[in-house]
Amino acid sequence: MGVSLLSSSPAFLVFFSFSTFCLLADPVLGITRHYKFDVKLHNVTRLCHTKSIVSVNGQFPGPRIVAREGEQLLIKVVNHVPNNISIHWHGIRQLRSGWADGPAYVTQCPIQTGQSYVYNFTIVGQRGTLFWHAHISWLRATLYGPIVILPKRGVPYPFAKPYKEVPIIFGEWFNADPEAVISQALQTGGGPNVSDAYTINGLPGPLYNCSAKDTFKLKVKPGKTYLLRLINAALNDELFFSIANHTLTIVDVDAIYVKPFETETLLITPGQTTNVILKTKPKYPNATFLMTARPYVTGQGTFDNSTVAGILEYESLPSNLHSSISLEKLPLFKPNLPALNDTSFATNFASKLRSLGTAQYPANVPQKVDKRFFFTVGLGTSPCQLNQTCQGPNGTRFAASVNNVSFAMPTTALLQAHFFGQSNGVYTPDFPSSPIIPFNCTGTPPNNTMVSNGTKVVVLPFNTSVELVMQDTSILGAESHPLHLHGFNFFVVGQGFGNFDPNKDPAKFNLIDPVERNTVGVPSGGWVAIRFLADNPGVWFMHCHLEVHTSWGLEDGLDCLGWRTSQSETYASASRSSQMLINTTHLVGSNCTGVEASFSRDGGRARNIEANE
Ligand code: C2O
Repeated sequence: MGVSLLSSSPAFLVFFSFSTFCLLADPVLGITRHYKFDVKLHNVTRLCHTKSIVSVNGQFPGPRIVAREGEQLLIKVVNHVPNNISIHWHGIRQLRSGWADGPAYVTQCPIQTGQSYVYNFTIVGQRGTLFWHAHISWLRATLYGPIVILPKRGVPYPFAKPYKEVPIIFGEWFNADPEAVISQALQTGGGPNVSDAYTINGLPGPLYNCSAKDTFKLKVKPGKTYLLRLINAALNDELFFSIANHTLTIVDVDAIYVKPFETETLLITPGQTTNVILKTKPKYPNATFLMTARPYVTGQGTFDNSTVAGILEYESLPSNLHSSISLEKLPLFKPNLPALNDTSFATNFASKLRSLGTAQYPANVPQKVDKRFFFTVGLGTSPCQLNQTCQGPNGTRFAASVNNVSFAMPTTALLQAHFFGQSNGVYTPDFPSSPIIPFNCTGTPPNNTMVSNGTKVVVLPFNTSVELVMQDTSILGAESHPLHLHGFNFFVVGQGFGNFDPNKDPAKFNLIDPVERNTVGVPSGGWVAIRFLADNPGVWFMHCHLEVHTSWGLEDGLDCLGWRTSQSETYASASRSSQMLINTTHLVGSNCTGVEASFSRDGGRARNIEANE
């Protein structure tokens, strides 16, 4: 079988807040798991380049968080590096625990050098895989790790119990310091330098120079099922993934079960997670198999078009000395990945994802809509600074926007400003619900590509049922944008190409079993419609998970009314948290015993993941 490669990426964000009266039952009775994250520098060598990276507990990728649905997590993060740090628990609903969400300058001030912060939240109604990552600048290039959420004790998976479970986390490796890469790009206004490799569990694999020894190996036995917990933690690239000569069954995305379906290849955007079942060959196959990932790219910029590979290796029986000696000589099969710009694969794959939608795991799609939004998402330009030459389009600087508003990162955390009623001068609640100047989103671009700037949020009353159509623009070329909403899951009720038609397209929406997730790819040159219930008071970020687009301002804030209006109950929990906001540490974390978390160099050995008490 053949092999192929490609890569690229973009990004934006949005954020909202609500207010509230919600008195959720406090999950006080459950188990609490403690973790301690020491953020330190440590030396890592990849592609024959040694550099000092920012990492957690000296591990790369970082430690694995394992917990069951319903459990509380207390994670103490201590910053021992010169950079400001904050950590986001990507995809965790954070019901009424918005202070623990993590985006710097949105829900908290970043943790300064020498300071610490305790993230305190409970996992409610989610099972599957999520991940944590730094949420400031480009530090998530090296600060990331898996979150494994097991079902409640005694509750089975809605599929046969796998023999072993293995996280597979994709990342992006830069030989240079990623902080220097983005700061240079922001300086010049041009596109950032692209990464030098993709990685699987931190390892680039045999298709790169000097990397054969840095290869992820998944060692399996014949006739078994393995649950692979796939995570795309890459900064800027959507990825195709496949394992040669093996079929994958998709069972869960973004920590929500889906109707199982089989596929040879899958697509995963930054910010998405996908659980798949891998059934191994019934007999020892006398061959080894590559698993590869390379980018899906629709934008016009340069991108890292390389391919990361890991190895699926069938373990021979200890008695079978012969085959273990000749492992190297076994035939090696490689998967065929789609072309780098294969949008029809992307569309087709997205259309197969459906909520499981059983009585036990219903798809609670909002059937009525209180408030409709239409957001254009895409790239534009902003003026070059005086007396400078810029490397963006026609001597401008690249910018990214939602409804032509490019997000200006505040210097006060928005949640803090909101909570203390001091939003004046920090943000304005006037984010447009549709573009102010309508234009043909996917037609000939307008002459004026300049965006406006601002820290604007959408304000939603508590329990508003929201429909949001996100429309890609062709202003600087159409491009797929993986949009991520903090604090909520949403249902993907429709998608299409060209301009969204509010008269015709809603009739085709799936309101029965649409997939539920936290990050969705807005199709290149098309639109996607989502619905969600604004039932989680707080201030929530929404943005493109292509980090470069977030750097360029592709984001918005959501302000869910409720913190301000409901006094007693909400105030109590928020004021507790506000102490943490100013970095008062009053919780001492310890490592959660019984949960091992490191990927060793040949760390492919599959193992069961257990949350032990
Ligand atoms: Cu995974 Cu706001 O990010």
